[in-house]
Amino acid sequence: MPLIIDCDPGIDDAVALLLAMASPQLDLLGITTVAGNVSIETTSTNARSICELGQRTALKIFPGCPRPMVREPIIAAHVHGENGLGGVRFPPAQMPLQQKHGVDFLRDSLRSPSAPITLATLGPLTNVAMALIQAPEIAQHLERIVMMGGAVGAGNVTGAAEFNFYADPHAAQVVLHSAAEYDVPVVVIPLDVTHRAIATPARRQALRNLSSGSLSNPVAKTVATMLDNYGLREQRDMGFAGPPLHDPCVIAYLLQPALFETETVSATVEIASPWTQGRLVVDRNGELDLPGRIELATGIDADGFYKLLTEALGCFG
Ligand code: BDR
Ligand code: CA
Repeated sequence: MPLIIDCDPGIDDAVALLLAMASPQLDLLGITTVAGNVSIETTSTNARSICELGQRTALKIFPGCPRPMVREPIIAAHVHGENGLGGVRFPPAQMPLQQKHGVDFLRDSLRSPSAPITLATLGPLTNVAMALIQAPEIAQHLERIVMMGGAVGAGNVTGAAEFNFYADPHAAQVVLHSAAEYDVPVVVIPLDVTHRAIATPARRQALRNLSSGSLSNPVAKTVATMLDNYGLREQRDMGFAGPPLHDPCVIAYLLQPALFETETVSATVEIASPWTQGRLVVDRNGELDLPGRIELATGIDADGFYKLLTEALGCFG
């Protein structure tokens, strides 16, 4: 499956990238980075470190937008640590960043690809929206977009909004509306679902076990350590038994869609209200005539998801 991943690593982005690298059925054409959890410089450096950790230094990383389209930037260093990777230290990254801007890479890759391309988005949608604004017709070459974003219930930045949509609500709206205009299937995996993908102590131990005794798996070991430092305040506030692995759900959906339940709904993203900016607005009954149309994830087989993740990361041993 030809795939581009747009991301803002971020601990859970890092795990998602490693899951993708571990999955030979995914043909990773490139990684674009965006400002989100931390600055664009740091998300780009982190993408390099993670590719090096996974020994995939031939992958191409294209740095994208340093700030959202309209609103003032926000970051989530309090969730992911100042370095975006839970304070885990990596050797200085050696692999180069591509000179081409992430938006240009998205646009050019989608102009006339030999096969339709799947886009996985794990961060604010600034790069994708900018590419669609520059060249709206590229949407027709998208096989589909699978994104982590939005909250139907409570948000994690405000009561109404999830981080990726809140960080660039205008971009999120552009992407949902453009996709609908060109009939591009969009799968949205919202917070309501990712909050059920909790890395409990037992699930983290299963990852740690991949690198114990005579087994050596630096990837699994690093992932387990990062997860120990991920979103501790959120866990406490929400009463979670571990951190939710939001972004790897996107890659899991590509690999095993049957792990998820979905329903087709009309949707948009609120951009105007100071109270609910970034809200994923869902209309199940078609009463509001909303411009977007999405496949909304509503459920996840969390044990199946962790089985997939643990088995996949086992390949790095
Ligand atoms: C999303 O926000 C980020 O902090 C995570 O990486 C994830 O993409 C969850 O709301
Ligand atoms: Ca992310």
